[in-house]
Amino acid sequence: MTKIGRNDPCWCGSGKKYKKCHAAFDAKLMDPAFNGHPVPDHRLILSAEQIEKIKASAAVNKGALDYVAERIGVGTTTQEIDDWVHEYTVSHGAIPAPLNYEGYPKSVCTSIDEVVCHGIPSSDRVLKEGEIVNVDCSTILDGYYSDSSRMFCIGVVSPEKKRLVEVTREAMYKGLEAVKPYGFVGDIGAAVKAHAEANGYSVVRELGGHGVGLEFHDDPFVSHVADAGEGMVLVPGMMFTIEPMINMGEADVWFDDSDGWTVRTVDGQPSAQWEIQVLVTTEGYEVISD
Ligand code: MF3
Ligand code: CO
Repeated sequence: MTKIGRNDPCWCGSGKKYKKCHAAFDAKLMDPAFNGHPVPDHRLILSAEQIEKIKASAAVNKGALDYVAERIGVGTTTQEIDDWVHEYTVSHGAIPAPLNYEGYPKSVCTSIDEVVCHGIPSSDRVLKEGEIVNVDCSTILDGYYSDSSRMFCIGVVSPEKKRLVEVTREAMYKGLEAVKPYGFVGDIGAAVKAHAEANGYSVVRELGGHGVGLEFHDDPFVSHVADAGEGMVLVPGMMFTIEPMINMGEADVWFDDSDGWTVRTVDGQPSAQWEIQVLVTTEGYEVISD
């Protein structure tokens, strides 16, 4: 970081003098209490204008998930879900972020039962009574990114799978409630893990939440198995996802090389995931996409 003079223009682009703008904000991060903790660089502190643009992206993202929610059921193919998301997103002037992302072939991820995440939609895959499916939508509008996912129960689902879906949602909200300015990224994972394990489930370690807004996947990495008080300092203006993947059985997952994307539980037992996009505020947090 280059040293900025107190009378220089602030790094945030406000046009105000640094001493009248973000000087106190930066000083707070210098506090010795944060020694050893990664501190977000200025790029990760979003301006009010950037936040507005990301909220517009999130409105489309949430709309796409609502559109799916109104239609999904027994007999839906995962390709139909892809078509709905693609059509909804494009007709709202946006781009599905997954499409062509690092070679991903579709517009949405659909992850059924033992699929942990990144399931690829297919016209051969028909949703059956009793299945649980995660639909993960990500949107680019005007260059700004949004990302959230929801679980859907198809027809009548066993009480065991229903409980997994509910506890995973609760775990995500426990993580959300742990978000507070000048707390730590590790507080989130600690809260998620405690809730999942108290209910007899295990938490996927290899994948986590991520900074989002200016990029699809940015810093910080948000582990769902972290320790409270560890990791990057949470600073107002940071935005990231919380997206725990919770397994009914063992935590271990495997990455399917045959399609390069699908992640599955090693023991074949079901996994659930919910994803929320959140902004750190001076008071606590604000949900951006869910
Ligand atoms: N939407 C996923 C996430 O929550 C990322 C999917 S990458 C894709 O981070 F290429 F598979 F779409
Ligand atoms: Co995500």
